[in-house]
Amino acid sequence: MNILVTGGAGFIGSHCCVQLLDEGHDVTVVDNLSNSSIEAIYNIELITGKKINFFEIDLLDEEGMNNLFQSKKFDAVIHFAGSKSVSESVDFPLKYYFNNVYSSILLIRIMAKYDIKNLIFSSSATVYGEPSSVPINESFPIKGMNPYAISKIKVEEHLRGNFHEYPDWRIILLRYFNPIGAHKSGLLGDNPNDKPNNLMPFILKVASMEEEYLEVFGNDYETKDGTGVRDYIHVSDLSDAHVSSLNYLLSSDEKSGFCHALNIGTGRGYSVLEIIETFEKINNKNIPYKVVDRRPGDISQSFTDTELSQRMLKWSAKKDLNDMCKDSWKWKQSEMKRKKYES
Ligand code: NAD
Ligand code: UD1
Repeated sequence: MNILVTGGAGFIGSHCCVQLLDEGHDVTVVDNLSNSSIEAIYNIELITGKKINFFEIDLLDEEGMNNLFQSKKFDAVIHFAGSKSVSESVDFPLKYYFNNVYSSILLIRIMAKYDIKNLIFSSSATVYGEPSSVPINESFPIKGMNPYAISKIKVEEHLRGNFHEYPDWRIILLRYFNPIGAHKSGLLGDNPNDKPNNLMPFILKVASMEEEYLEVFGNDYETKDGTGVRDYIHVSDLSDAHVSSLNYLLSSDEKSGFCHALNIGTGRGYSVLEIIETFEKINNKNIPYKVVDRRPGDISQSFTDTELSQRMLKWSAKKDLNDMCKDSWKWKQSEMKRKKYES
């Protein structure tokens, strides 16, 4: 099948491309490289021994996108491209409405123009805001607590609205929990161009001695040890969930179209201290930390009910926290070696 992957040079998209190529699909990537680099594309090709059709195009460039859709007929689109920093979205909300919402509307429009009806969209567990209980299932209320979350909710709404206009579209909205880990080769990982603010990238900075210690944001939550609890999922498992979603889109016996929202996580919650402890043990590295105030906007705990994704996609996460910590550190070490070699 011919699959268009937007944002395919990024963290999750690049891992997904590997899996799609391994499954025998023909993969076209469109990415403006605003938060990634062309190395990711070369590394996908190195890992798989297969060729990617890469186009450095901004999704906001209507003419460029039109030319692309004119040149090739796609069977499905997996839409990862967008901006993903919550703190940046608070400072620059318009950027998020433009780069996440407007770009997605343009994509939907061009798909409609060229009669492409299968779409997987990267949504986020952030759409649930502070949940009233855990585990979180797909029927929980949606609450946008910051412009990033609102941008995801808006795209979900547009896709549902679009679905009314084009009832034969097949759409899956994947609400990811907390993706971490890296490809086992050490060649692909979370490699943002800007300063990261998520937990694992920070632990990696401490492990590599770029930072002296980790700040643990609060130990007074109502959780097992007072620190925040999240559902961390290995990026390879997350990529598998996309392949399963694609199979569902392309072969489901649901007669009419559909627009399903699915939570993608492991169903297990780990605290910040548990992550530090596991990382230290599996990698034999010391991670010094200091407990500081809670981070504004943080929720206390979040993990998913996996029932719907398991039933619908016949998919479940296979990798555990040891794998996530081990592969993250392996990637960081390879990255450090590459940087040393380049300088
Ligand atoms: P990423 O930043 O690594 O990848 C996004 C890619 O999209 C980058 O390669 C970037 O260059 C590209 N891009 C951004 N704007 C573009 C545009 N206008 N035109 C073309 N390309 C553009 O992010 P990621 O972690 O791989 O996340 C992928 C998707 O999953 C995003 O939509 C993100 O919001 C969502 N998501 C991520 C997480 C997470 O923790 N990583 C959690 C939930 C949801
Ligand atoms: C953050 C975003 C969320 C987004 C998700 C995945 C915020 C408020 N939320 O969520 O919208 O969907 O990333 O990209 O930014 N922690 C520390 N020290 C650190 C970093 C994090 O203690 O230096 C703690 C946090 O308080 C939290 C846990 O680690 O309890 C995970 O944090 P993070 O990786 O940022 O993910 P989320 O908070 O789930």
